[in-house]
Amino acid sequence: MTDRTAKLTSHDGSSADLTVLSGTHGPDCVDVRGMNKSTGLFTYDPGFATTASCKSSITFIDGGEGILLYRGYPIEQLAERSTYLEVCYLLMYGELPTPEQSESFNSIITQHTMVHENVRNFIAGFRYDAHPMAMLVGTVGALSSFYHDSLDINNPKHREISAHRLIAKMPTIASYIHKHSLGQPFMYPQNELSYVENFTQMMFAVPAENFTPNPTAVKALELILILHADHEQNASTSTVRLAGSSGANPFASIAAGVASLWGPAHGGANEAVMNMLDDILHSGETIERTIERAKDKNDPFRLMGFGHRVYKNFDPRATLIQKMCHDLLDELGGDQPLFELAMELEKATLADPYFIERKLYPNVDFYSGIILRALGIPMSMFTVMFAMARTVGWISHWIESHEDPEGRIGRPQQIYTGPARRDYPA
Ligand code: CMC
Repeated sequence: MTDRTAKLTSHDGSSADLTVLSGTHGPDCVDVRGMNKSTGLFTYDPGFATTASCKSSITFIDGGEGILLYRGYPIEQLAERSTYLEVCYLLMYGELPTPEQSESFNSIITQHTMVHENVRNFIAGFRYDAHPMAMLVGTVGALSSFYHDSLDINNPKHREISAHRLIAKMPTIASYIHKHSLGQPFMYPQNELSYVENFTQMMFAVPAENFTPNPTAVKALELILILHADHEQNASTSTVRLAGSSGANPFASIAAGVASLWGPAHGGANEAVMNMLDDILHSGETIERTIERAKDKNDPFRLMGFGHRVYKNFDPRATLIQKMCHDLLDELGGDQPLFELAMELEKATLADPYFIERKLYPNVDFYSGIILRALGIPMSMFTVMFAMARTVGWISHWIESHEDPEGRIGRPQQIYTGPARRDYPA
C-alpha cells in the first residue's frame, strides 16, 4: 500500500477517497472497494483490461519491457538452467527447491503418474475422432469423481495432494487421449524416467518395441513446458480462480480453465497458427493476402500468433521458442519451409504500419507449433500440450486464492441495457 490516495467525485457531488495500492513491480492500482458505498457508482471495464482482480505473488509480466518473472526469476534464466519440475516446485511453493526438496518432489510426482484404471476406460469411451481438448475437459472434470479422498478445499494438505495429482496425471491423460485418437494401446508411466522422458514414452512408444527418449526432443519439450507454466491472470487462470471462488473442487476448477484455454484467442492459437501457415504454404494463400485480411476490419480473420493483451514490445517466450526452432530443426529436421515462412511473415509485419502502430508482435503461440510438429505431436494435440504445461500455474493460483484472506466469491457487476421494468400483459 502507498500513502497516496485518489479522489473520485461523482456528478451528484458525493466523493470517495480511494487508497492507491502498490505491488513489488508494476503499476499502482486504485482500490475501488469503498467507492460504491460512498458514491453509489460501480466501475465498467470490459475484458478487465484495467482491473486487478487479486493480489498475487506468483508471476510478474512487464509487457512494455518484455519481462516475465516466475516468483522473481527471469524466464530466460529458468529456460536455460532449470527443469520443468523444478519450475513446478517454484511456482507452487514460492522458492527453488533444495536438492533434498527436489528429490522428494520428483518422487511424489512420479508416484502419482498412474491414473485409476477407470480413467483409461473413461477415455476409451470417447469417439476416436473427438477433439483432444474435448476429451481433456471431460477427463479433468471427471477426476473429481475418482479422487474423493482429497477434495476438502479448506484442508491445505488436500489442496497440496490434488495439486500433485494434477501435475503428475496430466501427461498420462494427455498421452492416453493421443493414443485413443490413434487406436494404439495406452502406455503405462515408467517411474525410472524423468517427467518429460516419461511423457514422450507414453506418447510415442508402442508395446511391441523398445523406446529410448530422444534427448533433443526432451530438451525442447522441457523448454515448451517451462515457457507455458504460468502467465499470471490470463483468461484461463482467471477462469480457474473464478470457478474456484465458489468453493468448486480443484479438478472442476481446472477443467473450467482447460475449457477457457481451448479458444483460438488463447491457447487454441497454436493450432490456428499452423492452419494459417499451412494455408499459405499449401493452399495458394499468400503472405500479402494474409496480412491484408488481418488488417481488414470487415474480415473477422486475425493474424494468429500475433498480438497480446499485455506484451506491447515483444513476448520473451516467443524469442526463446524461435531460438529453439533453429536448434531443433537443425538437429531433428522438421518442417523447415514452414519455419522459414513464419520468419518471413514476422518480417513482413515488422515493416507494416498497421502492426507497428498497434504494437502487434509474435506471441508464444507463433513458433511453438513448429517445435511441437517437429517432435511428432499432431496439431489437434497442441492446445493439450499447453494445458499440460499450464496446469501447475492454474493450481498454484487456485491454492493462492484459497490462502488469500481477502478472497471472496467472484461476482462482477453489469450495466443493464435491457427493457425497463414493464408489466406482463393483462
Ligand atoms: N491480427 C490483426 N489485428 C489484430 C490482432 C491480430 N492478431 N490482434 C490485435 N489486433 C488489432 C485489433 O483489431 C485492434 O485494432 P483496432 O485498434 O484498429 O481496433 C488492436 O489490434 C487491439 O486489439 P485488441 O483486440 O483490443 O487486443 P486484445 O488485447 O483485446 O487482444 C489478443 C489480444 C491476443 C486476443 C489478440 O491480439 C488476438 O486475437 N491475437 C490472435 C490470437 C492469438 O495469437 N492468441 C494468443 C495469445 S498469447 C497466448 C495465450 O494467451 O494463450
